[in-house]
Amino acid sequence: YHVDWDPASAEKGGFSSFMEKEINDQPDAVAQTLLGRSDLDGKLTLDELRIDPELLKQVNKIIVLACGTAAYAGTVAKYAIENWCRIPTEVELAHEFRYRDPILDENTLVVSISQSGETMDTLMAVRYAREQGAKTISICNTNGSTIPRESDAVLYTHAGPEIAVASTKAFLAQITAAYLLGLYLAQLRGNIFSGQIKDVLADLNKIPAKIQTILDSAGPLRELARSMANEKSVLFLGRHVGYPVALEGALKLKEIAYIHAEGFAAGELKHGPIALIDDGQPVFVVVPSPRGRDSLHAKVVSNIQEVRARGARTLVIAEEGDEAVKAYAEYVFYVPETPTLLMPLLTTVPLQIFAAELAAAKGYDVDQPRNLAKSVTVE
Ligand code: AGP
Repeated sequence: YHVDWDPASAEKGGFSSFMEKEINDQPDAVAQTLLGRSDLDGKLTLDELRIDPELLKQVNKIIVLACGTAAYAGTVAKYAIENWCRIPTEVELAHEFRYRDPILDENTLVVSISQSGETMDTLMAVRYAREQGAKTISICNTNGSTIPRESDAVLYTHAGPEIAVASTKAFLAQITAAYLLGLYLAQLRGNIFSGQIKDVLADLNKIPAKIQTILDSAGPLRELARSMANEKSVLFLGRHVGYPVALEGALKLKEIAYIHAEGFAAGELKHGPIALIDDGQPVFVVVPSPRGRDSLHAKVVSNIQEVRARGARTLVIAEEGDEAVKAYAEYVFYVPETPTLLMPLLTTVPLQIFAAELAAAKGYDVDQPRNLAKSVTVE
């Protein structure tokens, strides 16, 4: 795996770890990924995307290929792209994809997401997709790496070098780039949504400041994390775009604190997982905006109630102003108001901070966790 910078020379910027530095770099990572890709009229200007717009107009299916955190970024993007473009979008774990004899043709757009651009599982899946005639776009954070070089086009994230093994700023930048790609496809196709692109871009441009607000108010959350250093298991629940956030929150805790953690779609609770709830079981719940589809919000609040009634410690991530969750939450971390589809850019941040703080409290090497490599360049 080649590196085009010397990690030893990289600075932690005064933070206790590269991961902490990168969590705090996130307002900039999102802002830099947005910079220069839309104009003052609210039009996307993705000139760097070297793929014939006429081909993109013909796309009738999108398959996202990625692994780990990058796959969770793709899952967030799926909700947004399907909502904005009305193009069926599947997210496939790259290492599963080519063994299931997938259905692909020249009207299929394959979007790979990879921070390193060297993940062998993802590279092999992209190669397979190209052999089947699909068009391929790489969302990648490492200029000139293998996956972009073997794709038809690339949309780089501009998160800067991510040194910690556990991905944070690259994850938010991947989601941001995937949103831009979705908006671009809607703009090309001129569908009913295309009139709202300007508003979504305006909402996206407010995200960096909202992330900063979260970073500045994380003190109590860090204390909670340190108090939970001896927990043996933590569950994460989410619905809609909160579901991939729950998966990502669980992965962070597994990766760097070595705690068994599992993310679930909140609706799955009654189909089995609720049997796991025992007295004192910590459960994070990522709650959608009460201003969105009310049924979604109400259902998640009832999920909090269900696990609370069975003794769970309910740790809730909710949108500021959401009073309904207070009755059933032991702890609430509020994130600034933002449209539902963009909420993952905010609700993920407290879960990253929680994992980093808890791992540090255990005295673990947050940047180089055991058994893991920054890029998995073997299958
Ligand atoms: C994320 O914290 C992990 N380091 C891992 O899941 C990672 O996202 C995955 O291996 C994909 O790596 P890539 O983005 O470089 O392809």
